[in-house]
Amino acid sequence: MQKKTEIACKAAIEAGRIILSLQGKTSARDKGASYNLVTAADMSAEEKILSCLKESFPETYILSEETFSSQSTGADKLWIIDPLDGTNNFAHSIPQFSVSIAYAEKGEVLAGVVYDPSRDELFTAEKGAGAFLNGKPVRVSSRGSLKESMLSTGFYYERGEMMEKTLGAIYRLFKADIQGIRRMGSAALDLCWTACGRFDGYFEYMLSPWDFAAGALIIKEAGGAFCDRDGLQKGLNGRGVICSNGIIHDELVRLVRYEDYRVPQFKQVSA
Ligand code: IPD
Ligand code: CA
Ligand code: CA
Repeated sequence: MQKKTEIACKAAIEAGRIILSLQGKTSARDKGASYNLVTAADMSAEEKILSCLKESFPETYILSEETFSSQSTGADKLWIIDPLDGTNNFAHSIPQFSVSIAYAEKGEVLAGVVYDPSRDELFTAEKGAGAFLNGKPVRVSSRGSLKESMLSTGFYYERGEMMEKTLGAIYRLFKADIQGIRRMGSAALDLCWTACGRFDGYFEYMLSPWDFAAGALIIKEAGGAFCDRDGLQKGLNGRGVICSNGIIHDELVRLVRYEDYRVPQFKQVSA
């Protein structure tokens, strides 16, 4: 696995450099909705990662957001790639985005790498060998209750029921007296920031395998808990994520589990 992790790190760092070099220099086009964007940085980063991985591992299947998004997650040997996680931030020059690369065999993630080029932070994990930030071991936080916790969330590109359910969950969390909740804009980093204790938990109702594959392994290897949006273990087939330091997990799942809650009634405000 070591060679796979090494090459994935190299690919992620090179892709990160390309993304930084394009910051402020590319315009975004939308993928059907004005807030679902793709830029030249997404495409160039993906091209670089694919060439690095294919050169060393020509036999391995690829599931990658921009060009190979239909490969099955159950392939014998599979790279799962988000070349730029946080495109919206990137397009607005907000330095919170990442490159995410995972390696899986038959649906099980064995290695994960997430690189934040703005901070030069490289998160890595191999199954059974712990999680690391720039080579140093990381652990989830030890905060013992939701009341003490700082959480993170994200919104899918949907502005209907799912968004309203997310807002309902945030409302319930504030009513449970959490210390705060952030929407940072890169799911892969939300997972890694929970893995290293900056956040105590994170939830988001709709993600794709390339958003969470690497981060899910990193958080589990850091001692945390990870499940899908209904509190179930569905691995790469899960939709959405609830993760935490493990200690607050049951409390968090109880308040944000997707299926359990109706859409709250929000008052229409005229523009
Ligand atoms: C998005 C980011 C964001 C999350 C969205 C993702 P993208 O990925 O991870 O934080 O809220 O659901 O789709 O589109 O920037 O790769
Ligand atoms: Ca993404
Ligand atoms: Ca992306």
